[in-house]
Amino acid sequence: MLVLENLNAHYGKSHVLHGVSVEVRAGEVVGLLGRNGVGKTTTLKAIMGLVRRTGGRITFEGRDLTGVPTHGLAALGIAWVPEERRIFRLLTVLENLRTGLDRPGLDERKRQELLEKVYRHFPVLRERRNQAGGTLSGGEQQMLAIARAMMLEPKIILLDEPTEGLMPRMVSQIREIVHALHRDGVAILLVEQNVPLTLEAAERLYIMEKGVVRHHASAAALRADQRVIHEYLGV
Ligand SMILES: Nc1ncnc2c1ncn2[C@@H]1O[C@H](COP(=O)(O)OP(=O)(O)OP(=O)(O)O)[C@@H](O)[C@H]1O
Ligand SMILES: [Mg+2]
Repeated sequence: MLVLENLNAHYGKSHVLHGVSVEVRAGEVVGLLGRNGVGKTTTLKAIMGLVRRTGGRITFEGRDLTGVPTHGLAALGIAWVPEERRIFRLLTVLENLRTGLDRPGLDERKRQELLEKVYRHFPVLRERRNQAGGTLSGGEQQMLAIARAMMLEPKIILLDEPTEGLMPRMVSQIREIVHALHRDGVAILLVEQNVPLTLEAAERLYIMEKGVVRHHASAAALRADQRVIHEYLGV
């Protein structure tokens, strides 16, 4: 569904991605692992058209994404939850969620249905719906960021280190939501540093090093033989 072929990207003169090839099939959870600074976030930003792509190709459902503006990607079914979450701190939880509902072709009944669905997944967001986003804990803000992405009814969600800095209880909730999205048939490209969670949640994994994919394997193969994980991630 989403295919990155030999992707190159630059920040100014600095060449950061040196030919990244990654594929996510419909409904699949794919992990993207790698140490700090190897280019995981840049890969997601390249998909979103937020860094300068200097080579290679990105297609989504067979369509070349070159020239599709960032704001046009949601309509195609691509949602991005960035590392720094970027919720609206001064808007309430409900207002944050409604930003994802503000699109044509969605009547009020459908909007309510979508809201109810995320409230079922994240009861804490219902409790706090009238509270400013900025007053939520880090874990709750992460849930809000994911919930807002879900409002777009995406075919794929690009999740950038959703469990970073979260307490174990919150990590479990994020794990649950990844499973729930998977059950709903939503594909996920999961960037993580949490190796056990990614090995458990993803079906296939890519391991990056210095702007390239060094290894690609099924999660089952990596669970059975973790030498590659030790080699590239040092854990
Ligand atoms: N805006 C920028 N301008 C210049 N260089 C950047 C910029 N953002 C990232 N880089 C550089 O690009 C490389 C890849 O960064 P990237 O953020 O993609 O890494 P990452 O794998 O997501 O790391 P982390 O695990 O720390 O989030 C790093 O060397 C980083 O310093
Ligand atoms: Mg990153």
